[in-house]
Amino acid sequence: MEAGRTRLSDHLSQQLDADQSIHRDLGKLILDIATAVQEIAILTSQGALAGVLGNLASQNVQGETQKKLDVLSDEILIQTFRSGNLVAGIASEENDEPIANKNGGPFLCLFDPLDGSSNIDVNVSVGTIFSIQHAPKDRSPQLADYLQPGRKQIAAGYAVYGPSTMLVLSIGRGTHGFTLDASSGEFILTHPNIQIPADTSEFAINASNERFWEAPVARYISECKKGKTDVRSRDFNMRWIASMVADVHRILMRGGIFMYPKDTKDLSKPGRLRLMYEANPMSFVVEQAGGLGSTGRQRILDLKPESIHQRVPVVLGSRNEVERVEQYHREHDSTN
Ligand code: F6P
Repeated sequence: MEAGRTRLSDHLSQQLDADQSIHRDLGKLILDIATAVQEIAILTSQGALAGVLGNLASQNVQGETQKKLDVLSDEILIQTFRSGNLVAGIASEENDEPIANKNGGPFLCLFDPLDGSSNIDVNVSVGTIFSIQHAPKDRSPQLADYLQPGRKQIAAGYAVYGPSTMLVLSIGRGTHGFTLDASSGEFILTHPNIQIPADTSEFAINASNERFWEAPVARYISECKKGKTDVRSRDFNMRWIASMVADVHRILMRGGIFMYPKDTKDLSKPGRLRLMYEANPMSFVVEQAGGLGSTGRQRILDLKPESIHQRVPVVLGSRNEVERVEQYHREHDSTN
């Protein structure tokens, strides 16, 4: 180990037990993900020079137009997992059905290869989100095997492709952040034991959806906006990057609340964000940093998943603020 610099591999050796094969495999898998993230980081940083911007003619299972970089990032991750024997099954935002790996392995990996893709073409931060679960032993995974509640994740994390590339992850022992040192190709531990402040004066929500919000969300945001002149007795600031990874990363760095709540914009959708590869891994990372992840009515990590591409309302970040939003939902539901 280089003096004063803890590499991702050093950190994993410290956190994992080398005598247990599942721990050794988890360490290897996280290093494989870090290598894939570096490849995606190179593509995103080259942008137009690599000819990777713009749309494809295809749509994903969500009916969203696929960006070239969505598909390229998906291929990089799938190739990484399929060429090894650590991941028995893969589920991704870009694929209708999970993909089995003939080599088998002790884990399932669910991911959003490039989150916030509306930002790709305008050179604003995007990210990769991943969730790691146990695979069934001695048989290939079935759809039901992926539908585990988020609290059962073994590890989860994200990469943010911003001014610097960072990997933030948790294996259930706190949340730690690593910055890519492009000169050595190593992720270096720069943000150990991230702690989200319990209180905040910053909220993130797409305010253009205000007329579709439920009453408890409208109440919370209205009180934040009234600031000092109202019940909150302090002024709030608003931020919305429209990349969940980048918005949640800011919250991990300095606190805040992120909301993509249930709304009435499209009644066929109970929320915008996907449970298995967005809400669950981000809630895991946030809770390991002392925050909370909720639908407004229930803890996200306790939800019983119904389908791979299921959407859920998301309220996460500073604990006291998320609890306040939950309280407003309880008060509303008890009188309606
Ligand atoms: O994956 C969905 C996503 O791109 C998130 O990263 C982001 O928070 C959200 O959608 C942005 O939504 P909107 O386009 O409504 O601002």
